[in-house]
Amino acid sequence: MDPLETLTNEHGLIRQYLDNLTLAAGHIEDGRRPPGAFFKNAVEFSRTFADRFHHFKEEHILFVRLAQKRQGEIDAQLEALRHQHERGRELVTGIANAVEGYTADDPNATVALLEHIGAYTSLLRHHIHTEDHVFFPMARSTLDAAEMRELETEYLKIQAKHGGNTFERSHKLVVDMGSALTHMR
Ligand SMILES: [Fe+2]
Ligand SMILES: [Fe+2]
Repeated sequence: MDPLETLTNEHGLIRQYLDNLTLAAGHIEDGRRPPGAFFKNAVEFSRTFADRFHHFKEEHILFVRLAQKRQGEIDAQLEALRHQHERGRELVTGIANAVEGYTADDPNATVALLEHIGAYTSLLRHHIHTEDHVFFPMARSTLDAAEMRELETEYLKIQAKHGGNTFERSHKLVVDMGSALTHMR
């Protein structure tokens, strides 16, 4: 598959996940209590699929190739996207650190959980929008057909290294998270 289309499809799954996370935060705002396990799964999805799989393919493969080809012209743009990945990691740590206290009904931890979820979902939706509508179209016009094929080959190798079915496993996790919320209504 076209490697930029692969990344866009992964954005679709990440967006579906962010919608679940926003829904869960809404439940807390309304005085309901999604189980702590829901947020543990959220941290797991963010760290594995969104970060170690998807962001890795962007930062360590795509960004590097584009930087080489454009020779400094897009460094500021790449730096901004890298910074957003990094900030996302910090916010996920904030979510992870709040889960235990939330589960024990600590009001400060509950507020910390809501704050980090709000900042994380907002940041990542904005980031994905920029990549889909500005950054990937630029990448597409920068890389020629042979470079796109090389990118695809590298992505297939990473996919194989992660066991080959990362997308399917992660999709199942997101669907399970969604149904955990449905069942608590
Ligand atoms: Fe990204
Ligand atoms: Fe992305």
